[in-house]
Amino acid sequence: MTDERRAVTTHELLRMKEQGERIVVLTCYDALFARLLDASGVDILLVGDSVNQVLAGAETTLSATLEQMIYHTKIVRRGAQRAMVVCDLPFLSYQVSPQDAIRNAGRVLQETGCHAVKLEGGRPMAETVRALVDIGIPVMGHLGLTPQSVHALGGYRVQGRDEPTAERLKGDARALEEAGAFSLVLELVPAPLASQITKALTIPTIGIGAGPACDGQVLVLHDMLGLNEEFAAKFVKRYAALAEDVREAVRLFAAEVREGRYPGPEHSFPK
Ligand code: KIV
Repeated sequence: MTDERRAVTTHELLRMKEQGERIVVLTCYDALFARLLDASGVDILLVGDSVNQVLAGAETTLSATLEQMIYHTKIVRRGAQRAMVVCDLPFLSYQVSPQDAIRNAGRVLQETGCHAVKLEGGRPMAETVRALVDIGIPVMGHLGLTPQSVHALGGYRVQGRDEPTAERLKGDARALEEAGAFSLVLELVPAPLASQITKALTIPTIGIGAGPACDGQVLVLHDMLGLNEEFAAKFVKRYAALAEDVREAVRLFAAEVREGRYPGPEHSFPK
């Protein structure tokens, strides 16, 4: 079992992989949920650029900005004590050049107090990963369905079903490990391929729609809580039905206000 008091670091994650301890990751976008997740023993709070879809209502992650990610990461960091906080680098904040990536990732670490950044892509991103790691910025990779490339990939579909793509993904995973990434998200890849990649690497893999063999699992918090009912994918398990709870509570409040039953004497000040 993980020691609940030990802060989660890149070294701790490697130890967990070595000892076969599964890594628990959830997306998080604010301090209130950060406190709840941290207290529940979540290992990594991922400030995903999915915030742009889940909270800001955009269709894709592509329009997420560096300012937006810095804002959400800063407030998540306020609520985290033990958990590692990882900030997604948004589209175009790291692809232009390694120097640009250093400037932007450096700002993220400096202004938010987070512990690491995540970026999407394989071999073409290896030089950038190496540049960040060399100046002390821990990097989590992201392969498979990389949402910032959704238009190039032709939609949100499973990646690596055919042999050439599977081989490319294995090479990408090795390249990211060699470049110094401390961990790797595998999104929407067949379970047997995720298993092969996980066994081939010394760094932990974190799966989402990638089967049970990954070293850890991540879900979008609002999906697994049943708050985001519009998103239904095979890999999402709903552990609660909070959207229904919200509707019910609000209906009750509205009825009590309309009928003059709220506020009662117990909620009012006599003088
Ligand atoms: O943006 C995000 O939430 C993510 C996870 C789904 C891995 O990248």
